[in-house]
Amino acid sequence: MSIPPLRQRSAWKKLEAHFNEIGQRHLREFFADDPYRGERLHVEAEGIYFDFSKNRITDETLQLLLELATESGVALRRDQMLSGEHINVSEDRAVLHAALRMPSSTRLVVDGHDVVQQVHTVLEQMTIFANQVRSGEWKGYRGKPIRNVVNVGIGGSDLGPVMAYEALRHYSQRDLTFRFVSNVDASDLVEALRDLDADETLFIISSKTFGTIETLTNARSARAWLVEQIGTDDAVARHFVAVSTNANEVSAFGIDTANMFGFWDWVGGRYSMDSAIGLSTMIALGPALFEELLAGFHAMDEHFRTAPFESNLPVLMGMIAVWNRNFLGCPSVGVMPYEQYLKRLPAYLQQLTMESNGKHVTIDGDSVDYETGPLYWGEPGTNGQHSFYQLLHQGTTIVPVDLIGFAKSLTPLAGHHDILSSNVFAQAEALAFGKTRSEVRDEGTPDHVVAHRVMEGNRPTNVLLAEVLTPRLLGSLIALYEHSVFTQGVVWAIDSFDQWGVELGKVLATKIIPELDSDHEPTLTHDSSTNALIRHYRKLKRNED
Ligand code: F6P
Repeated sequence: MSIPPLRQRSAWKKLEAHFNEIGQRHLREFFADDPYRGERLHVEAEGIYFDFSKNRITDETLQLLLELATESGVALRRDQMLSGEHINVSEDRAVLHAALRMPSSTRLVVDGHDVVQQVHTVLEQMTIFANQVRSGEWKGYRGKPIRNVVNVGIGGSDLGPVMAYEALRHYSQRDLTFRFVSNVDASDLVEALRDLDADETLFIISSKTFGTIETLTNARSARAWLVEQIGTDDAVARHFVAVSTNANEVSAFGIDTANMFGFWDWVGGRYSMDSAIGLSTMIALGPALFEELLAGFHAMDEHFRTAPFESNLPVLMGMIAVWNRNFLGCPSVGVMPYEQYLKRLPAYLQQLTMESNGKHVTIDGDSVDYETGPLYWGEPGTNGQHSFYQLLHQGTTIVPVDLIGFAKSLTPLAGHHDILSSNVFAQAEALAFGKTRSEVRDEGTPDHVVAHRVMEGNRPTNVLLAEVLTPRLLGSLIALYEHSVFTQGVVWAIDSFDQWGVELGKVLATKIIPELDSDHEPTLTHDSSTNALIRHYRKLKRNED
């Protein structure tokens, strides 16, 4: 099936004409025209109630967006992804994170291997190890049980584990301490280790490639710390395990591959929190709740695979995001969880969305002539409200916002939760409807202040509402975002699964590292700004006048 470039697709052209008709209309009108709009424009799947009625869309917009999804080949591409075709074309790889959560009773043969069986073999290995650590059966070198788990990784090898741990710490084994070290800035590691007893500490070195300089530098320093504290290299085997696809490098680093938990090149870093990269999550939660997390992912995968587009939550979410980005022209998206345990979700979603869809060429290598992935950012509510929401309400740029709320608190304290939740609804209402000049006047506002207090509204939000944050719900929520990102990437005809853009900086940094070494005077061949900065840095290092 040959799919025309985006601007030539008939649904895109129809959407352009349609936007000219309704683009300036206000949510106030949409709601006034249809008293049932709020009830109608929602879908519910896997415990997530998704209200998209406060987007600047009509029924016709929706129908055209779904037509665009169809014309863009979302269903075909989804099926290619789920069956293991190499849809990551620039790296010639399958994209099979969905296989990480398929039940053991299923089979999926890809490139000659049953990947489901491979996944469950590693899950069993993780289960045994997690149970040993949790029960105290796994002993450190001098016989003490492990009480501290330090995950060392970066990007997808850190953000998923730390987000999941924070999100689900309510369910975690509380006599275990978890730390996450990612930044090569030594402060990250030093602060993480300063109050830990090496005899009770396990390091999980998490790196898909096992070639990432930040992780390997932290891992070497962690090993030096451990050896110094315990007094022998022999301790490493009881205190270091690895999660990686690269057994050779794990072994070269000095970790016995018997203590390695594997995964595969068909798991992208930012799609890996439910692979062995989730080892720290499994140790924190226990295998049974980890299984619940996987079940939540899988349930959303199945919904994405089988639900018609009109009721397909990830497809609707993704297509509304396309509308906001390409037609309303919104350059950024905010995600605001009204659940403190989800405080690292925005950072996690930043990598998922921006590393996936921050691309300027199509799969065929042509430059795009439309916008692709927006900037993605956020903070837990209500903190954001007392900080940057001012701009959301009255700034000159429109930022669509996902507001994520729960009906029940995991830590109920009298009076708290309804105050928190009221803000989810209030913010969505205020952003949509604002306050008109006459409403402001009618409140008795002095004339010279009226303009300042007007809120134009018409700012789109999605509200995602669920009963309570559980491992299963988290799995479904993350899978929802994964597939929404996928849907957008298919429409934009980009490869959502490579990340070449991060390479140049890495290569240049590798060249600069020796140039910062005080022992040698380097010949600098960069541009004049970079040369001057390096010289000034070297001077400051020497602390000369
Ligand atoms: O530099 C970006 C990146 O490649 C991410 O895609 C990845 O999640 C991260 O680095 C870490 O990579 P690794 O797990 O191989 O250390």
